[in-house]
Amino acid sequence: MADSETLKRQAAERAVAYVRSGMVVGLGTGSTAVYAVRRIGALLAAGQLERVVGIPTAEVTAREAEHCGVPLAGLDEHPVVDITIDGADEIDPALNLIKGLGGALLREKIVAAASRRLVIVADESKRVAQLATRAPVPVEVVPFARRPVGDYLASLGARVVERQRDGQPFVTDEGNVILDCHFAGLSDPHETARLIRARPGVVEHGLFLGMAAEAIVAGAGGIVVLSAGEG
Ligand code: A5P
Repeated sequence: MADSETLKRQAAERAVAYVRSGMVVGLGTGSTAVYAVRRIGALLAAGQLERVVGIPTAEVTAREAEHCGVPLAGLDEHPVVDITIDGADEIDPALNLIKGLGGALLREKIVAAASRRLVIVADESKRVAQLATRAPVPVEVVPFARRPVGDYLASLGARVVERQRDGQPFVTDEGNVILDCHFAGLSDPHETARLIRARPGVVEHGLFLGMAAEAIVAGAGGIVVLSAGEG
């Protein structure tokens, strides 16, 4: 049976088949999306793709893309992105997502919103019947507001944990902190998203609702391509 790294690579490489020469491509962040970056770099090196420009969703992704020879630009130069290939932490049957366990949710959502087509790549472990049953909802917060926003998020029913790295608060590319909100499932993710966004100090949250056009999911039985609206 294929291991999870193989499944991640298979899903990511399948998505890269959508990329055409001359496209502006949003480069997602995480251990699955990185395989798409590498594949695009390999196809550019082989001359099978040309004039592709990548819009990275994190500094770490920018460094990987540079290493792989993928030319980069920003949204100032390319405010419309043809396709973005990114991972997810949870995928529900309607292709609503939780993203951000890698800490890049803000730029990921900005790039996703600027994209004509958001294609999610994952192994089958990411599929859930209901969001927030396994993964927390990451909420990016300005550091000044971490305590009152944390208390507010707890009042919504979450167990709130400030994300740490190496014993220190995790700091995002934009200089914010992340409060991971553990819910016992979300029966109405749109309402939860609205309530989270309502609080000053919240910069963004990891609920990506109605944004993905497709999810390419690799599992032991092969690859399935899920389209929004089919759930
Ligand atoms: C990064 O901030 C995240 O949104 C990732 O896309 C997500 O956590 C999936 O990552 P993996 O592919 O590493 O599971």
